[in-house]
Amino acid sequence: MQQIVVVGGQRLQGKVAVHAAKNAALPIMAASLLASSPSSLREIPPIEDVETMKELLVSLGVDLFEEGDTLHIRVQGPLNTQAGYDLTRKMRASILIMGPLLARTGRVEVGMPGGCAIGARPIDLHLKGFAALGAEVEERPGWVEARAPRGLKGNHIYLDYPSVGATENIMMAAVLAKGTTTIENAAEEPEVVDLANFLNSMGARVQGAGTRVIRIEGVGELQGASSYTPIPDRLEAGTFLVAAVATGSLLTVTNVIPDHLAAILAKLREVGAAIEVEDDQVTIEAPARIQATNIKTLPYPGFPTDMQAPFMVLLTMADGESTVTETVFENRFRHVEELRRMGAQIKVEGSTATIQGVPRLKGAPVVATDLRAGAALVLAGLAAEGQTVISGVHHIDRGYHRLVERLQQLGARIQRVQPLGVPTGDLTPQ
Ligand code: UD1
Repeated sequence: MQQIVVVGGQRLQGKVAVHAAKNAALPIMAASLLASSPSSLREIPPIEDVETMKELLVSLGVDLFEEGDTLHIRVQGPLNTQAGYDLTRKMRASILIMGPLLARTGRVEVGMPGGCAIGARPIDLHLKGFAALGAEVEERPGWVEARAPRGLKGNHIYLDYPSVGATENIMMAAVLAKGTTTIENAAEEPEVVDLANFLNSMGARVQGAGTRVIRIEGVGELQGASSYTPIPDRLEAGTFLVAAVATGSLLTVTNVIPDHLAAILAKLREVGAAIEVEDDQVTIEAPARIQATNIKTLPYPGFPTDMQAPFMVLLTMADGESTVTETVFENRFRHVEELRRMGAQIKVEGSTATIQGVPRLKGAPVVATDLRAGAALVLAGLAAEGQTVISGVHHIDRGYHRLVERLQQLGARIQRVQPLGVPTGDLTPQ
C-alpha cells in the first residue's frame, strides 16, 4: 500500500487543467450498453473507478479497446446479465449498469454495490423506479435482481429525494421503454445533463435534464455515439481551487465550466479569495487571512457534498468559528478525526461540525477513509507546518488522475512512497 508524503508550507503557482468528470464518465460508459452499434468516448480519465467500470463492462461481454485518448466500446453478441459482488463491491457506481442492462436485455442481477464508506447509501429509489417501469424486482441477501421479460413501460416516477444515481439509472432504463416516462424531483446535477446529452446523441429522446422534471420518450433502438467527451470535472476543479487558498497561492484552473462551479466559487469568495472567471478558466488568489463561513451541503445547484471535506480544511485555518452541515450523506465526517490529528479544532454534533480556526495545521500521519476525505488530507498536508504522511491512498486514486504529479508541477513538495519511505518516482522539483 502506497502512501503520500507532503511537506507543507509551499506556495503553488501556475496553471492546471482539469480532466473529464469521473461522475459523468461512469454513467456514460454504462449507457454505452444501450446501443447496438459501437460508441467511442474521448478523454476518459484513467482513474481507478473508470478501470473498475471497464472491468465490469468486459465481464458483461463488452469489447473495449483504446486508441490514443479514445475508448471504443463495442456491444456485440449476447450480454451477460449478471455482475458479481467481487466487482460491484469496489464501487457504488457499478449499480449504473442496472438500468441499461434491464432496458437492453430484460434482465439484470448484481451483487449489492460498495464504494466510499460514507453512509448506508441504499438503492431503494433506483429499484422503485425500475418497478414503476414494470420490472419485477427481487432482493436476496447480497443480491438484487430486476426482470422485465416483456420490456419496460413508461410511467410517472416521483423521487422522494433527487438522487443522482437513481435519476441516471431510471433515465437509462426509460430510453428504450414503450411510451413516455417522467421523472419528478429529479437530480439537476451537470453530470445528469451530460448523460442526457450522450443518450440523445445515441438517438434517445430525453428532455428537461438539468431541471426537476425529466421527460423521456422511449425509442425502439439506440445507435452508438462517436467521439463523445464528458464534461470537465467540477469537483477536481474545486479541489485545485481550494488547494490555492489553503496554501496562500495564486493559481489558474483551466478546462472548467464556470457555471458548474457557482456554489463553490461563492463560498471561496466568502472566505476572502479573489476570483476571476474567464471563458473556461478560473484564476484564484488566496486572501492574507481566511475568513470563517458556514457551509451546508445540498443537491445541485447547492454546495456539493463532495467538496465538503476539502472545504473544511480551509475553515480549520480561518479567523473565527465556522459551521459545516452535511445533509446529503449521514456519515461523511470521517475526515474530522484525521484533521484533529493535525491540530484542527472541530466539534461534531449530529450532522453539523463546528470549526474553531487555528493559525496553522501541523503535519501528522493520517488515513484517507474515502475519496474526498483523502483529497482533503492532501490539501491539509499542503497547508500544514511539517510533514504529513497519508495512508489509504487507493481511495484518492479512485477519482484523481496523477494528483501528486500535478501538484508537484505547481510547486508542491509532495511524493508517493512505499510504506518504508522509498519514493516510487521522481521527487519534488524543490
Ligand atoms: C453521486 C456521486 C457522488 C456524490 C453524490 C451526491 C457518482 C458516481 N457519484 O453519488 O460523488 O457525492 O452523487 O452528489 O455520480 N439515496 C437513497 N436511496 C437511493 C439512492 C440514494 O436513500 O436509492 C440517498 C443516499 O443514501 C444519499 C443521497 O440519497 O444519502 C444522495 O445519494 P445519490 O444522489 O444517489 O448519490 P450517488 O448517485 O450514489
